[in-house]
Amino acid sequence: MDRFHISGPTPLIGRVCASGAKNAALPALAASLLTDEPVTLYRVPRVRDLRTMRRLLDCLGVGSEEREVRGPEGNADPQRPADASPADPKRPESPVTRPETALVLQRTRPSASTDAPYELVKTMRASVLVLGPLLARYGFARVSLPGGCAIGVRPIDQHLKGLAALGADVKLAGGYVETRASRLTGARFRFDLPTVTGTENLLLAACLARGTTVLENCAREPEVADLARLLNAMGARISGAGGDTVVVDGVDGLGGAAHRVIPDRIEGGTYLIGAAITGGDVLLEQANAADLAPLLDKLAEVGVEIEVSPAGIRARAPAGDGSLRARDVATAPHPGFPTDLQAQYMALMTRATGTSTIRETVFENRFQHAPELARMGARVHVDGSSARVDGPTELTGAAVMATDLRASACLVLAGVAAAGTTVVHRIYHLDRGYEGMELKLQGLGAHVARVAESMAT
Ligand code: UD1
Repeated sequence: MDRFHISGPTPLIGRVCASGAKNAALPALAASLLTDEPVTLYRVPRVRDLRTMRRLLDCLGVGSEEREVRGPEGNADPQRPADASPADPKRPESPVTRPETALVLQRTRPSASTDAPYELVKTMRASVLVLGPLLARYGFARVSLPGGCAIGVRPIDQHLKGLAALGADVKLAGGYVETRASRLTGARFRFDLPTVTGTENLLLAACLARGTTVLENCAREPEVADLARLLNAMGARISGAGGDTVVVDGVDGLGGAAHRVIPDRIEGGTYLIGAAITGGDVLLEQANAADLAPLLDKLAEVGVEIEVSPAGIRARAPAGDGSLRARDVATAPHPGFPTDLQAQYMALMTRATGTSTIRETVFENRFQHAPELARMGARVHVDGSSARVDGPTELTGAAVMATDLRASACLVLAGVAAAGTTVVHRIYHLDRGYEGMELKLQGLGAHVARVAESMAT
């Protein structure tokens, strides 16, 4: 188990590039179950959740390998960003000539296993994304129920209700969900609440169903729209993804495709909050400002100067201690303020002047970072689904424990802003979703070192 040793305070200054979105890459990998042809994905982040998904797909008969692709000619990627060309002869490392890695997924075994085992599913809830495609393609799927989770109960009832509406027979037995349908049939289905992976699972299933499916009250997250773009490139007929109502006209089969995963708005947003909390100045490259609008609006209210240009999104903290203003926030499904940035925002509010209330409306039990921040001097009072933060506080280094992915990011940012040494334990949570965070932070001037447990005694 690795830990981070951080010496602060250091202002984060410079440029940082967002990796591909973990939450868009996971369903994209699951989509490869729907075809025998190769699916080529660009900008897949090298994080643990993606390695877990690759292992799971391997069990299900789909192999994956990273291949280097050089330049646009040999590059089948149709969505290479505009800023990647033309080549800049003064920059030998120009993105056009720099080899790029693509992840190629293809069925390796003709007879598919349709069993997603507990050992893999328990480590990552998003494994449930294989349920829809396996059922649609093979008429049967057996997937372990995802276990309890550090940020609340997180049921999958909506996934199952939706698949049942498409004609699947759904049974729970021995900790597994078993679904069966000779061929799914299009139907109208309304989610009781918007669920991101629930919407994705239904899209993955409905594109091979007979007839038309109309899904209402869908999650509107950009990652849902990204999955629909990939599926359409594979031959699916999906319209309206990213909106409340999505229509899927079923097709008989899907082919391969090449697709570039969208930038990770949560990872990118974390570095922008990092600029704000440390009194820094960060340019986030390869970011989509529209996807980050709820955060950018909030940062502007807090007093951070936000500039959006073709080069990226620049966040500049105001000069002078105590110049950030405390502002309330409530998390909500997209286009609301993302729950996945709530913990990082709480760290920021400890440095702002005044009292702020942070309301978590998406998940229960998602304030586990609060007592850890308190160890660093923060004044946070949690009451049910609300937390009150009194600021500003001079954060001081301490030993703290990461409890989940986003809580880890919050503690790392607080550590960079704090005076003295902070040790963040259980960094494996962070490794699930942040690609090379210590390297990116070092690039912005932070003093962060990864220390392996065996070396850290
Ligand atoms: C996804 C993201 C996660 C993010 C979350 C909310 C992935 C891999 N993960 O998780 O990072 O924090 O969206 O933006 O994309 N719910 C039900 N029944 C269901 C499904 C969900 O009651 O069948 C509830 C959940 O308990 C939660 C809410 O719906 O309260 C939203 O959860 P959901 O959007 O499903 O989250 P995930 O897709 O698991």
